[in-house]
Amino acid sequence: MKSAEVRRKFIEFFKARGHVEIPSAPLVPENDPTTLFTSSGMQPLVPYLLGEPHPLGTRIVDSQKCFRAQDIDEVGNNRHTTFFEMLGNWSLGDYFKNEQLPWIWEFLTKELGLPKERLYVSVLKGDEESVNIWKGLGVPKEKIFSYGVDKNWWSRAGEPDKMPEGEPGGPDSEVFYEFTQVKHDPKFGKQCHPNCDCGRFMEIANSVFMQYRKLGDGSLEELPKKNVDFGGGLERMTAAVNDNPDVFQTDLFTPLMAALGTSGDVRARRIVTDHIKAAVMMMADGVVPSNKMQGYVLRRLIRRAMVKMQQLGGHVSDEMIHAVVETYGGTEYFKTVGIRFIKQTIAEEDEKFGKTLREGMKNVENVSPFDLYQTYGFPIEVTEELYQEKGLRLDREQFEKEKEKHQELSRTAAAGMFKGGLADKSGATTKLHTATHLLHAALRQILGPHVQQKGSNITAERLRFDFSHPAKLTPEELDKIAVLVNENIKADLQVTIEVMSYDEAIKVGALAFFGERYPEKVKVYTMGAFSREICGGPHVTNTGVLGSFQIIKEESAGSGVRRIYATVA
Ligand code: ALA
Repeated sequence: MKSAEVRRKFIEFFKARGHVEIPSAPLVPENDPTTLFTSSGMQPLVPYLLGEPHPLGTRIVDSQKCFRAQDIDEVGNNRHTTFFEMLGNWSLGDYFKNEQLPWIWEFLTKELGLPKERLYVSVLKGDEESVNIWKGLGVPKEKIFSYGVDKNWWSRAGEPDKMPEGEPGGPDSEVFYEFTQVKHDPKFGKQCHPNCDCGRFMEIANSVFMQYRKLGDGSLEELPKKNVDFGGGLERMTAAVNDNPDVFQTDLFTPLMAALGTSGDVRARRIVTDHIKAAVMMMADGVVPSNKMQGYVLRRLIRRAMVKMQQLGGHVSDEMIHAVVETYGGTEYFKTVGIRFIKQTIAEEDEKFGKTLREGMKNVENVSPFDLYQTYGFPIEVTEELYQEKGLRLDREQFEKEKEKHQELSRTAAAGMFKGGLADKSGATTKLHTATHLLHAALRQILGPHVQQKGSNITAERLRFDFSHPAKLTPEELDKIAVLVNENIKADLQVTIEVMSYDEAIKVGALAFFGERYPEKVKVYTMGAFSREICGGPHVTNTGVLGSFQIIKEESAGSGVRRIYATVA
């Protein structure tokens, strides 16, 4: 069975049970500075899991593209990838365990036709309710495993004591597929079991019973409504349906694997495949290589893929980029950023890093690994791998120190920058989000209606807004824009929300981010007569609370695209 069929079957199954399909959100969350990437299906639904009513009701289904940097070290085996698609269904205070577990069982065994004898389930120790539901569905008790919170509790930050204030989470119940052709490797423990890492079992479905929120004092409170957050990796489900434990042999990877050529170390080939795919999908969502934030992660992916390709005796080619494009919807999907731009960006990275890479590889025996990392700009994972492969001498202490710094950076990048937790949202970032709408309207008024949003990013300190405009802004233009935004802050405009269809919203003049796919029903935020935009929120209720608005910097963000950094105080 092909992945497209698995995806369609899942969506249709839940639509037939009253769910409304929503499009995948971008890989970079637009208005959630607490995390760098959308790393699970629930990410765009967090406000609704916390209690805000969803415009499309209480039953939602989708297929969400995700990126998990924390899995980067595992990539190379049969099942870990940094980029993947997560099939998801949600109950927002609607149904709970009694419906969710039987539905998932029915989907896996009837729709996908997975043999029951190959399926195992896990629950959180003490969750007798789930155990009884599984037993009622005919799962024998020796195939029901109980684990602690390290395995059967889910939140974006992990187990309860790692959750920041405001974060939702809850116990979960997983389904595993057993690949009987994979022999247990005792290296991973005497006995094999669903959570063993030997590769015989693969987790394919996770139903999270999202019913708690972390409080400031460290305790958990019950959410006003109990939710279900289900996620299942499309790549893994497809592998299970085909009874082939190697996700890289599903049609989601084979065109790209083939573009690499057919020979060479399989681990290296999987790494290149994963990284190039993730890099292309990230760029399609507007990320460009840099030394910060998402751009830093992207640069590491490209560089590591380049090193691995060099070892495989080739280089990152345009065919590889085309293979990703073919796998994910063709040129239509990539029209916002453009395939040419993606190719050009990779070529530029090759120019920047390619020479040092070749030199570094030539000198690999002579320079210290620390120099490879520090001087030649090799990604840390690659430097360490080369050390292991070549037995290079290493100034361990110095290297470890660097590595720690780097890991800290990756951790914040990967697990989410939970510094202020979600509580952060209610303050500075909400204000900056409202200021972004005012800025967008002011830019169109001063520069003209050709101005369209190309990207937006908000941290607690500043907003960043990318928009189409052919020339550098003059100091006079910047002045006029700031004055206009400040006038509309002083006017203390009321901010109102309406829910309507996307077509209606466009008809009433709401601005949209045309790079994004919208669901049928959208929220429209209106600020007096000045600004009207389709947006998920949240926003302040009156513009007066923004105080005053300042532009910090204006610069180019690519050809025909300008970028403004601004703040409010
Ligand atoms: N949010 C859950 C996960 O990512 C379903 O596994």
